[in-house]
Amino acid sequence: MDLSADPSLSLFQLLDPSVHADPYPFYKRLRETSPVHWDMFMHTWVVTRYDDVLSVLQNFSADRTPNAKQMEALGLPGLSPIAAVMARQMLFLDAPDHTQLRKICSIAFTSRSVSVMEEQIQAVADELIDAVANKRQMDVIADFAEPFPAIVTAHLLGVPPQDHRQLKAWSADFAELLGNFQHNPERTSRVRSALEEMSSYFRAAIREQRDQPKPGLIGSLMRANVDGMHLDEDQIIANIIVTMVGGQETTTNLIGNGLLTLLKNPDTLAEMRDNPGIVKTAVEELLRFESPSQHTARIAPADTLMGGKVIKKGAAVMAIMAAANRDPERFPDADELNLTREDNRHLAFGWAAHFCFGAPLARLEARIAFTTLLGRLSGLVLLDEKLQWRTNSGLRGLRALPVGFDCKVVA
Ligand code: HEM
Repeated sequence: MDLSADPSLSLFQLLDPSVHADPYPFYKRLRETSPVHWDMFMHTWVVTRYDDVLSVLQNFSADRTPNAKQMEALGLPGLSPIAAVMARQMLFLDAPDHTQLRKICSIAFTSRSVSVMEEQIQAVADELIDAVANKRQMDVIADFAEPFPAIVTAHLLGVPPQDHRQLKAWSADFAELLGNFQHNPERTSRVRSALEEMSSYFRAAIREQRDQPKPGLIGSLMRANVDGMHLDEDQIIANIIVTMVGGQETTTNLIGNGLLTLLKNPDTLAEMRDNPGIVKTAVEELLRFESPSQHTARIAPADTLMGGKVIKKGAAVMAIMAAANRDPERFPDADELNLTREDNRHLAFGWAAHFCFGAPLARLEARIAFTTLLGRLSGLVLLDEKLQWRTNSGLRGLRALPVGFDCKVVA
């Protein structure tokens, strides 16, 4: 039976707030009834099984940004300047350009540069909790999950931490285009001005650092050099933007969605609070269970046989990591939350060449965030069961997470 015309299997379902609030039954239906699915409403293939998602991430092309001419043909000329920046970002390039760019960026962003940030990141988390500890309630998103990665990002880049609200606002605007397949023409001009503003901000930071070098990723990218190759100003700006956006929206979602999952499963919340030593596997499980970046897109590089279907060269493919991460063929009791799960090679950070560039930092931030929240706030409870989700199906996260707590536990 041809299921491509069945609207109940289309990714458009994710625009329904009740599906978006809990997309896993929908993903399960897709995985079980049409695992390699032609979605005729979205004009894209949709893959949901672990092995297929892995194969798409490993073998398909990431070069998917339409050029100015294609944008005009699509009737979206307003998006051309944005596409021009995206085309310079590592997320949208294939080898050999991607390999070279990532090599240069990796020199600037090493595991050592992440591990030396540990004390600073802990101080950021403690300061945010200090600000709410006596209030007995907080909005975890506004008071912690948003400012925490925004301040850490400022430190990482080497820009003033007091600019964190501005960094967050630009990131939220740009994220409208990442992981969001719903084109909203009214937002285009806002995304364009955000892009212009942050490009000028980072250009000024680069020029300032030519005379007065500072620690941080901007300076390291300016100095990074592989076999005499270095990045030009536009490449640095484009990749600082993808790092800044990639680093904020996802981390906010991991903390917000992760804490919500624990609040809904009080036994696991108690397990994590009483055994802080399990935080490493717990963070991996929360990444698997509620993946902050639910899907990504690719282009078929050649006619490809997958799940008995032929995906034609040049066709768009959506790889749903959040569905793959609940595939029972790969994860026993996939819909169960198990904070000490072993063999947990989830796809929440992607796979292969584009595997998340910031994963070591994201893991460190998440470990510090959960141990600080659970260690310092006792009696955590959800204050409002009616939750509101932001309308981005890819970067899926909460608008607010109001919680109450009994008292401040002295650190
Ligand atoms: C919980 C936090 C995070 C999650 C779930 C996450 C998820 C992902 C995923 C799924 C990809 C691959 C996308 C694809 O293949 O299309 C990716 C790539 C990337 N991430 Fe993250 N990310 C997180 C945090 C961060 C942080 C903290 C940074 C930077 C400080 C960052 C920077 C990047 C960059 C630059 C890429 C592009 C890599 C490339 O194309 O080679 N991410 N991330």
